[in-house]
Amino acid sequence: MSKKLNPLHFLILITILYCILISSTAKASTYNVIQFGAKPNGKTDSTKAFLNAWTKACASPNPVSIYVPQGKFLLGAATFNGKCTNKAISIIIDGTLVAPSDYRLTGNAGYWLKFQHVDGVSIRGGVLDGQGTSLWDCKNSGKSSNCPTGVTTLEFSNSKNIMISGLTSMNSQMFHIVFNGCQNVMAQGVKIMAAGNSPNTDGIHVQMSSHVTILKSNIRTGDDCISIGPGTSNLWIENIACGPGHGISIGSLGWELNEPGVQNVTVKTVTFSGTQNGVRIKSWGRPSNGFVRNVFFQDAIMVNVQNPIVIDQNYCPNNKDCPGQASGIKISDVTYEDIHGTSATQVAVKFDCSYKYPCSGLKLKDVKLTYKNQVAEASCNHAGGAALGLVQPQSCL
Ligand SMILES: *[C@@H]1O[C@H](CO)[C@@H](O)[C@H](O)[C@H]1NC(C)=O
Repeated sequence: MSKKLNPLHFLILITILYCILISSTAKASTYNVIQFGAKPNGKTDSTKAFLNAWTKACASPNPVSIYVPQGKFLLGAATFNGKCTNKAISIIIDGTLVAPSDYRLTGNAGYWLKFQHVDGVSIRGGVLDGQGTSLWDCKNSGKSSNCPTGVTTLEFSNSKNIMISGLTSMNSQMFHIVFNGCQNVMAQGVKIMAAGNSPNTDGIHVQMSSHVTILKSNIRTGDDCISIGPGTSNLWIENIACGPGHGISIGSLGWELNEPGVQNVTVKTVTFSGTQNGVRIKSWGRPSNGFVRNVFFQDAIMVNVQNPIVIDQNYCPNNKDCPGQASGIKISDVTYEDIHGTSATQVAVKFDCSYKYPCSGLKLKDVKLTYKNQVAEASCNHAGGAALGLVQPQSCL
């Protein structure tokens, strides 16, 4: 080298190189939906723009972000297909996605926004507005046979390594968020809002999935806050505020004769406010080879809950389609620990198990539930297990 680079020039050179590097990686890795023609006016259909942004992100060999800025984006039913070239697509949403106000426009596909066969997708922030109120009105009008079923707001199916954080889902037509056939899911800081009388608007539904974690979420809806379907294992739910709603429910199970079971479910630190149920296990009174085992309901506060602790194995609305009325679902090793608060009905603990396959290994530990400032009641049918510590109402196990 003939000349020495002076330190100032060296510094400038480094800074320039650094800026080029940062701007090029930023440009290469963030797709703003506006660049794809999305309009933040709440009126222009932006479905194609979102799908085009997804297709490009999916084809990228490197990690990518899709950015949705502030504003309202009108989207019809959309499927985001996976088998992508990279395993790190972040969707960062500062705005609101709105479904068409006419519920017929989302069609009969069963979902509004669906991700399938994706691996490594995260959604951060954002509001999803399903605009479900007119469909609820139709269903609540007494002539519900004239109304379409409606759609799930957000579904992940046959996917893995999914993360949802800080997302708000409001006024879903049907279920808000569904994980079906997924592995390794984290959902946290989710906010769900729908009217207490909105039909079938379950907050988060998990089925055929394993290693799903749901943390720090606030769920106010018209059906189950969280519902757990067949084939769920290693599910962890913690720090949830639920209500209005129907509580946290394993079930309904046992509709099918051949049905995969539910196991290793923990539900921890939940406040139920004015809900229909607290922690529930529910199965059809039908033959089935399914099961529920190794479940922990731990550290719950019940505030004026109609059925704080309930197992109902005789579910059979209108006594239709339940030959013999005995559930084949085998329930074992379910622990209820540190559950306190108030029941809105006299029977605060109800174990109504299958007469063919009685529940076994039910455990009550440090449970105190009152009804109108008095001692509540417990009721057992075909239920076996033990009570430990202080248990009020007095255990019937
Ligand atoms: C139960 O599930 C949790 C995750 O929710 C997992 O960490 C744990 O290993 C599982 N236990 C068994 C016995 O599979």
